[in-house]
Amino acid sequence: MADFETIVNTRRSIREYQQKDVDDEDILKILKAGMQAPGSRLGAEPWEFVVIKDKETLAKLGEIKPRVTGAPVAIVLVANIERAFYKTVWQQDMGAAAENMLLEAVNLGLGGLWNGVAPDEERMTKIGEIIGIADISETKPYCIITVGYPAEGWENKFMDKFDEERIHYEKY
Ligand SMILES: Cc1cc2nc3c(=O)[nH]c(=O)nc-3n(C[C@H](O)[C@H](O)[C@H](O)COP(=O)(O)O)c2cc1C
Repeated sequence: MADFETIVNTRRSIREYQQKDVDDEDILKILKAGMQAPGSRLGAEPWEFVVIKDKETLAKLGEIKPRVTGAPVAIVLVANIERAFYKTVWQQDMGAAAENMLLEAVNLGLGGLWNGVAPDEERMTKIGEIIGIADISETKPYCIITVGYPAEGWENKFMDKFDEERIHYEKY
């Protein structure tokens, strides 16, 4: 386990992975971290998760999101709007879960990537078809988090993204 400052500051988008499986225990920890995220209404969070390890399914997803292909595991974050109390803010709810998952991956010595899906309807529909969602009107594929041990040259490491000019005090 790493300390919080290290996790937040060294997380990078890891787009290539070693051909090494991720332990199911670690996948569960990443899912738990996702569900610990803040949501617009406690107890009415829209998030659901589809864990995919099957190489054929990963390759199919990779036809739409190319970086998924080589990953040992992909987690599709799905917003189930029927679960949500505030039904219009599902993208914020899902984003909070996604970031928590990426940070937990770093904590576990893994790398992760946020593969964007929503709000592009065509992409959402195609991803939905692959994972068994026939209709995306209430059940929306939001993004795909890939996870794995980073390939050489893709390590989590600090990159300074701080920009003082973006900070405003008291008024914009
Ligand atoms: C909403 C969203 C969608 C993204 N979609 C993709 C994607 O489809 N493919 C990809 O390689 N990276 C994707 N990323 C990762 C960003 O490219 C990455 O976070 C950004 O370049 C900053 O790099 P860092 O994550 O290493 O700080 C996405 C990130 C976000 C927040």
